[in-house]
Amino acid sequence: MIKVLFVCLGNICRSPMAEAIFRQKAAEAGLEKKITADSAGTGDWHIGSRPHEGTLKILDENSIDHNGITARQVTSHDLKNYDYIIGMDASNIGNLNKLRGREKIGEVARLLDFVPSAASADVPDPYFTGNFPEVYELVTEGCERLLEHIRKQENI
Ligand code: 4NP
Repeated sequence: MIKVLFVCLGNICRSPMAEAIFRQKAAEAGLEKKITADSAGTGDWHIGSRPHEGTLKILDENSIDHNGITARQVTSHDLKNYDYIIGMDASNIGNLNKLRGREKIGEVARLLDFVPSAASADVPDPYFTGNFPEVYELVTEGCERLLEHIRKQENI
């Protein structure tokens, strides 16, 4: 099984959105038995919470399943356990690098590193901007490109 972990700050807005969208895209490609997706936050404030209502609303509007997604905090064990660790912005990557220390881990990248045309490689945080539709568009594009990257990398 290829394991993908999406990481943001609170694990209630961006990374659960990416988890849900990516899982759906992988299933549409018939890869649900080969790739799994999960998400976590670098912060601990929302552990156990369901995604933000803005994330739930945009997922519902686009018929994307979000059943069972609850927030958790990323651990150093996650970093060894996942093959692809995908942050939403540069600050997430900085926090992941602090957590990993000298440990060698799977591929770490920002989601929009896979979208060369993106104006910025950071997914803006809708917890502060309130703009969930903008984030949905960016995350969808990122998930499509990430899936292409993984399929090439893993020959699947
Ligand atoms: P996220 O957004 O990282 O996309 O889940 C945030 C959610 C909560 C907080 C910050 C960002 N917070 O400070 O509680």
